[in-house]
Parts: sequence; C-alpha cells; structure tokens
Amino acid sequence: MNSHLLSINDLSVVEAIAILNTAEELGKISDGPMKKLPTLRGRTIVNLFFEDSTRTRISFETAAKRLSADVINFSAKGSSVSKGESLKDTAQTLQAIGADAVVIRHSASGAAQRLADSGWISAAVINAGDGTHEHPTQALLDALTIRQHFPNNGGDLSGLKIAIVGDVLHSRVARSNVLLLTKLGAQVTLIAPPTLLPVGIETWPVSYSFDLDQVLPEMDVVMMLRVQQERMSNFFFPTAREYSKSYGLTNARLACLKSTAIVMHPGPMNRGLEISSESADAKNSVVLEQVANGVLIRMAVLYTLLGGVPLQGGAETKS
Ligand code: CP
Repeated sequence: MNSHLLSINDLSVVEAIAILNTAEELGKISDGPMKKLPTLRGRTIVNLFFEDSTRTRISFETAAKRLSADVINFSAKGSSVSKGESLKDTAQTLQAIGADAVVIRHSASGAAQRLADSGWISAAVINAGDGTHEHPTQALLDALTIRQHFPNNGGDLSGLKIAIVGDVLHSRVARSNVLLLTKLGAQVTLIAPPTLLPVGIETWPVSYSFDLDQVLPEMDVVMMLRVQQERMSNFFFPTAREYSKSYGLTNARLACLKSTAIVMHPGPMNRGLEISSESADAKNSVVLEQVANGVLIRMAVLYTLLGGVPLQGGAETKS
C-alpha cells in the first residue's frame, strides 16, 4: 500500500482484502472489554474537513482514539480558511504542529491528491471524500459490510450482484464503490435516470440500466445513493415525486427484493426521496452496520498507513 490512501486505485486486491481482514480483527477487539489499542500512542491525526460530515469525521476521530492517537479536528467553518487562508498555508500549519496523518474532505475533486503531491507536508494523506471524485474508506466499509453478509473462502465478493441506484453523476461513493466492488469480483449494475449517469459510463466496468423494477429482483445488494441537491446547478429530474416513483426504494420495491438481499445507503439519507422510511428501517437494511464498520475500516487504514503490521488473524496488543 502507498503511504497515502487517495483512491481505491491505490490498493491491489490483496491490499484491499488485507484491510478488510484487519478491520475484522480490530472488530473482535472492539467487542471485548479492552476497546483501545496502544498502537498509535504519540502520533497525531488531523481531521481536516472543508465540507460537512457526520459519519466520516466522527468515525475517523473514534478510530484514531481507539488506537490511542492524539486527534485534532479542523473544520473550515470557524477557522482562518474563512479569512482566506489557502490550502497550502493550512497544510504548512499542520506540518508545523507535527501531524502524522491528515484526513481531508474537500469539495474540490483532486484536493487530497494535491495535498499528497504538494510537498507541503510529510504526513500520510487519507481522502475522506473529494468533490465528486472518490471516497475510498466509504467503499471499504461498504465492502466489509457486504462481505459480513455474504462470506466466502476467498474473502472477496465474487459472484455477488450489486445494484448502485440513483445520483451516480455526483457520487464519489459510487465511483469508489465501482472500483472496489468490481476489483473484489462483484457484478455491479448502475441504475439511474440518463441525466444522472456520467458521460463515458460505457467505459466503466459495470452494467447500467434506466429501469429499476427490472433489475431489483435479481440483486443480492441494493445500494441507494443520496440525491446530492447541493451539487445540482441544473434540473436533473422533473420533481422529487417523479424521481421517487421511478428511482426510489419504495415500500413496494422493498417487497420485491430477494429474501436474502440487503439494503445499503452511505448516508445522510433523504427519507421519502431516494429511500422510503420503511426501507431505511427494514430488517434487511444494514445502514447502521455500515456506520459501525466505518470505525473499524478507518482504524484499519490508520493502523496500516502509520506502520502497524496488517492484522490477518492475530491482533497486535502491544505498542
Ligand atoms: N457517508 C458519508 O460520507 O457521510 P458523512 O457525509 O456524514 O461523512
């Protein structure tokens, strides 16, 4: 694995599976009485968030604390960024305080890459979502959640049929998931209105469809995407009601899923738009498992990048 995690393309299949295995081993520790590992004692992790977040920021903070790191939470709102301070000056400030890893979320695609390539900091850079580009730790936590429901001997996702539904155009979650889930052997189908599929979709390693009802009954996993209205400067569908009718996971569609199928959503959810409340809270909804796995995956990524030996069957318990 590189010294940064900027894209799923940074990971080989073996490295991706090793992170999932490490997360599972760390999960066994988290379920026990001693939740904390001393592995990152004395190390400093900075959460550098230029865009809003609930799940990602909280779970990176929890993950770092469970590994005994010091954590600094930086949010652009309320910082000197609002006075015009540049990414470079912000980064150099982090270098001066001795950050070992910087977890960055930014509205600009490529911001994490820019920080990693800049030479402004020596810290490991972890992409926590950059514009519409990628969100690699979200894809890893999604893969872990899927694997827990559909385990196989190879530790991958081969043979599974996975639908990713909705606003693919604006979704970094979809991009990272397409890269990771197909890397791990799953067959991925994207379902969206034509206006919400990216140009060049034919070159992606996926199938795609405009007809949700035709595709849903064969799927093992149904991942609904948030409609990202804050990134929409145009009209991509006539009305919310129309969108929900054609592309929402309604109660009627929930009833058409395989009995073994699971329902996923990265959050935050627009209940009543891309997913009905009944679907979000259904017994086969794994939305909260995704959140819990987010802590384990982020522990595994920090553990791996900052020098822990990847755990594949026996967790390190000494510093
Ligand atoms: N899934 C996700 O990235 O959620 P947050 O925006 O709350 O971090």
